[in-house]
Amino acid sequence: MASLYLHCTTTASSSPAPPSSKPHPLLSKPTPFLSHARRNHRHPLRVSASASPNQSDSDSQGKLDRRNVLLGLGGLYGATNLISTEAASANPVQAPELDKCGTATNLNTGEQLDINCCPPITGNIIDYQLPPVYNLRTRKSAHRLTPTEAFKYNLAIERMKKLPEDDPRSFMQQAFIHCAYCNGAYNQPGQGDLDIQVHNSWLFFPFHRWYLYFYERILGNLIGDPTFALPFWNWDNPKGMTIPPIFLDPNAAIYDSKRNPANLTAVVDLGMTGNTDPMQLVTNNLTVMYTEMIRGNADVYDFMGQPYREGTPVSPGPGSSERGSHTALHVFVGDPREPSGEDMGNFYSAGRDPLFYCHHANVDRMWTLWKDVLPSDVVPEKTITDPDYLNASFLFYDENAQLVRVYVRDSIDTRKMGYDLQRIDLPWLDYRPPIQTALARIKKTSSSAPKAATLFPLKLNKVVRFEVQKTKKGKADELLVLEDITVDTTKFLKFDVFVNDEDDNPLELDKAAYAGTYAQVPHKAPKKTSTTSIRLKLTDLYEDMDIADDDTIVVTIVPRHEGPGVTIGGIKIIENPAKA
Ligand code: C2O
Repeated sequence: MASLYLHCTTTASSSPAPPSSKPHPLLSKPTPFLSHARRNHRHPLRVSASASPNQSDSDSQGKLDRRNVLLGLGGLYGATNLISTEAASANPVQAPELDKCGTATNLNTGEQLDINCCPPITGNIIDYQLPPVYNLRTRKSAHRLTPTEAFKYNLAIERMKKLPEDDPRSFMQQAFIHCAYCNGAYNQPGQGDLDIQVHNSWLFFPFHRWYLYFYERILGNLIGDPTFALPFWNWDNPKGMTIPPIFLDPNAAIYDSKRNPANLTAVVDLGMTGNTDPMQLVTNNLTVMYTEMIRGNADVYDFMGQPYREGTPVSPGPGSSERGSHTALHVFVGDPREPSGEDMGNFYSAGRDPLFYCHHANVDRMWTLWKDVLPSDVVPEKTITDPDYLNASFLFYDENAQLVRVYVRDSIDTRKMGYDLQRIDLPWLDYRPPIQTALARIKKTSSSAPKAATLFPLKLNKVVRFEVQKTKKGKADELLVLEDITVDTTKFLKFDVFVNDEDDNPLELDKAAYAGTYAQVPHKAPKKTSTTSIRLKLTDLYEDMDIADDDTIVVTIVPRHEGPGVTIGGIKIIENPAKA
């Protein structure tokens, strides 16, 4: 066991200051806990208060073995994103130690702005047991709430805003949860300066599910209604493709003045093309949904996000939903008049807009739909069974202000968590783009695109077009892999990927040539840049364009942000390792 942590103790003791030019937040603002915290890095972590009860030495060993087997089979895509040696511990990311919470940072302003979003610390932590479910809460579309439901929701938020500031259930303390878990306030217990980051990995869905779970229970408690359910912003359906009107009343508790005034009643732009034609936006949106839910994913990690384990760096890779519709709506709502797109447009402030929780209720719904509703031939396995995923843990305050530790494994089934969803039709489910055969062929043969190898690593600052060799080896899915995408985490960044695009009109996405996207919400990360990979399944696209037998494809990458910030290390087409 000790050897598993050798690298951590070494790091902590041999280099007391982090090797970056600016002081680490923990060092720049000493807290009463600081000296204690740094000394404790030498401690064997499992004996601390946040040690997971179900991990013994033999468990850890078992996991190591199992993972090696997976790696050997080549079945664990994403392994290349892990730090090769330091990833050896192969344990779940553990809940933070609250007494070592440091100041979170918003680097997006250019000037150093420290924000204290640490929670109040109370005594003991208990392992949370899901209570027995007698009546399911039903989450409904915010566009379809009855006046009574809308009134109750607003009343609950109003009461939450009136709780004393230091009550962990108060509105601002709840908002701070997002700031602390997403902006570098917490380090991984025992892992030196490695941050905890709940985005851009497989922790994205479960973290936010637990966050909303307690938010909902707190609100229900405040109005004495155990059936209270958070509404979801049904942005995947044309009827829900505007900000729900209940959020627009300036006198309501659920109102927030820091929103983009141009988008208050506009049709949402899930593709972030900047197109302003409402009809085109709707079809773009349905294409984005179809692509991120169905067409672009070859396995569960493509949708959920890449593996993120104890001792490994943040942001191994976001899932298709996170980097797609999820990011788009953060940026759509955030106020461009504010220095960092506050509130929704930046992770540290997103939780200050009640609309954030309504947005995430729909993000959470996407997880449920993907797992339970989509045809099973989309991907073979829809649930991650890796113990490093299932045993990852977080801390929250429950509706009685009790500090609790929760595990990912208890968040897989919403009905066990006591809630269900209003049934609404899914117009994107069959939104397969029309066949583009002829034009795609012509475009391809007449293209004089350079070979990919001559362009990479590629600093993305304009539209680029190049040729990539296909594999054409077997029957497995072919995947377009964009490797070592190095991003400035403090900026909004997005690019779209098209294949053999026949018209090159980047304002329109509703075509077979659209392969997928990368996009991120600005946030703080330890080094200001992070490196990530994504992959896009091409099988259906080949079929839609009748290009399965070609030897090469022409890829177009269209940046949607201004200026630099993205470097793509390489691009290649591989066969799905899980099926090859
Ligand atoms: Cu934690 Cu939508 O962000």
